[in-house]
Amino acid sequence: MLFKRVKSLDQILATAEKKGLTRQLGPFQLTMLGIGAIVGTGIFVLTAEAGQKAGPGMMIAFVIAAVVCALAALAYAELASMIPVAGSAYTYTYGVLGEGIAWIVGWALVLEYTIAASTVCAGWAGYVNGLLTHAGFGLPHFLQVGPMDGGSFNLLACLIGLAITLLLVLGTSKSAKVNTVLVLVKITALIVFIFVALPAVKDQNFTPFVPNGWGSPMGGIGVLGAAASIVFAYIGFDAISTAAEETKNPNRNIPIALIGSLSVCTIFYLLVSYAAVGSVGAQPMLGQNGLALEPGTPAFAAACDASQALVCSKEALAHVVRLLNHNSLASFIAFAAGIALPSVILTMTYGQTRIFFTMSRDGLLPSKLAKIHPRFHTPHVITLITGTFVALFGALFPVGILADITNSGTLFAFIMVAIGVLILRRTQPDRPRPFRTPLPWLVCPLAVVGCLLLFLNLSKEAKITFFVWGAIGLVVYYLYGYRKSHLANGTEPS
Ligand code: ALA
Repeated sequence: MLFKRVKSLDQILATAEKKGLTRQLGPFQLTMLGIGAIVGTGIFVLTAEAGQKAGPGMMIAFVIAAVVCALAALAYAELASMIPVAGSAYTYTYGVLGEGIAWIVGWALVLEYTIAASTVCAGWAGYVNGLLTHAGFGLPHFLQVGPMDGGSFNLLACLIGLAITLLLVLGTSKSAKVNTVLVLVKITALIVFIFVALPAVKDQNFTPFVPNGWGSPMGGIGVLGAAASIVFAYIGFDAISTAAEETKNPNRNIPIALIGSLSVCTIFYLLVSYAAVGSVGAQPMLGQNGLALEPGTPAFAAACDASQALVCSKEALAHVVRLLNHNSLASFIAFAAGIALPSVILTMTYGQTRIFFTMSRDGLLPSKLAKIHPRFHTPHVITLITGTFVALFGALFPVGILADITNSGTLFAFIMVAIGVLILRRTQPDRPRPFRTPLPWLVCPLAVVGCLLLFLNLSKEAKITFFVWGAIGLVVYYLYGYRKSHLANGTEPS
């Protein structure tokens, strides 16, 4: 039954024409949107977590995650150029595998976009709480972290989530301009980091190179465990394809922006991780049994107490630069992260609202959600609802857990897109493809295998959350979308 209601691609393209958003984004803004979504908490915050899981081998983790994401990006680019409408993997799946699977993908994308935005809210709050505390204006501890971290409510994470929501309600164009400036700030911080840390690289900091091995059957550790977490540092490139309906000449500009932004980020990450590991070392904290402790546990926190190790830092890049005795540059990096990470929250929340917008346009969510604001021309209802959840999750959960949960939904969506490319090559070989995935019968299966491997290496908690969330999604679908679907009822809005 899940496979029965397939929406024809022509129908999808026609719907988009009917109830469209204004096309105003060009290739530069779109690439900036991509880099804005990609560079963020992953490199600024989760580098420490990757070190704890993989030691210096985290550099390989960055490469593995980059390769898997690049394969997925090549598949995304083909579907995004063929079906340049809002909704990303959700829309593509609707046209290939049918409504039920599309719903599951859309539901999984909530993990990718909403939870990613929350992750960055929490990561941002970590940096800004640190800056405020150093300046003598720190909030009380119970307002600095959520309950699982020993506090009550991460106030700053909540406030930044709400502020970004407001920006999005006011309009894409304004938000995209702000985004461009913030991207430049972020890139400057990474360049400063590389220039300071690279000259301090020493050979001995790379030994032992893979202290925790390559992985474990349960996941969550070793180079593959780190790669599974580091996927977070690369996601965001697909936020570009969710903006397809607001893009000028999407057939050309979306592939350019997808591949371009991913390449730029990969080069920066490899330089940053090499410089971080080589300059101060990245050996994991070990428990009494000689095994690496799991990040985010009380035992790990206790071992880290008063430790200067990179793997213990909540502000990894600033910490490295401080250890190298460049205090003011360290403050600059922390400040830049504080200013710039919100651009990721913006892009992720934006992506989520456009996916919900598309799902409600298809009748799978109430149509009131897709209402466009008469003055700001943005889907304000769904933006406000999404933003409220982003802010709340960011305020209540720890960064590491949120990141791994995000990755579970993301990897699932990547798998579906790669499968979708192959199915369409078979079923609709003559449909125009402005961008064609090179060697699709090699690239797409490799993308599927790579994503599956990384999914299995996620932490146990993330995998459980993914399946529970999926089960809830199925119930919601049968109670609502299955009955109200415009495709099933022939009630496509005109
Ligand atoms: N890739 C984005 C980040 O690292 C989500 O913050």
